[in-house]
Amino acid sequence: MKTDSRVKIAPSLLAADFSHLHDQIRQLETAGVEWLHLDIMDGHFVPNISFGPPVIASLRLETKLFLDTHLMIDDPDRHLQAFREAGSDCITVHQEACPHLHRTVTRIRELGAKAGVAINPATPVSTLREIAGELDLILIMSVNPGFGGQRYIPGSAEKLREARELIAKTGKHILLEIDGGIDAQTAPEAARAGANVLVAGTSVFRQGNIAKALKLLEESISRRTSEKQK
Ligand code: DX5
Ligand code: ZN
Repeated sequence: MKTDSRVKIAPSLLAADFSHLHDQIRQLETAGVEWLHLDIMDGHFVPNISFGPPVIASLRLETKLFLDTHLMIDDPDRHLQAFREAGSDCITVHQEACPHLHRTVTRIRELGAKAGVAINPATPVSTLREIAGELDLILIMSVNPGFGGQRYIPGSAEKLREARELIAKTGKHILLEIDGGIDAQTAPEAARAGANVLVAGTSVFRQGNIAKALKLLEESISRRTSEKQK
């Protein structure tokens, strides 16, 4: 990305126009995006249903973007191999959906993908203490998962700061991602609190012009980051 190289924007495909995916992915690539966030919903863990491995396999043929797959599904162990074979580069499961989280994370890594764990707004960061050192990515949900276009929950920045401390204690390079309600107003706060991957659906795909929307987000992050440094 052209602005703060430490912070990536990961557009969430959920908000895209599904009848023009090819064109929209080209626009993201032209704008310099590196990650594509894929929201997988099963109608059980979350009320909504989205798409699954066959769609990811088609996307994989279409793009070299890093496919950041967010599984909002019950019993994700049953589907890890299918998502990996479809082409997911990172697979993130929910802490709340995994009674044997260490086993699940180990399996994701055995499959050759980066492993992430997400927590819902009401789940404390401390639930990740024992698993953090095994992770490539921690995802803090700033909305209750299930739908795009919701409002960012205040207090998410505090959780990002706690997660940042947890990551520092591991001494490892672990990405910190925030997901839900990210726009030019909320992105700077999230970046300042330590997020280095910002998922953004509505604020990228629903503004009429993808390149302009990305630029607005990038500018908001770099402006507020430099204000902090003054
Ligand atoms: C919510 C999803 C998010 C969502 C983000 O369940 O995990 O990735 O699509 O969309 P916006 O940016 O519209 O909140
Ligand atoms: Zn997501």
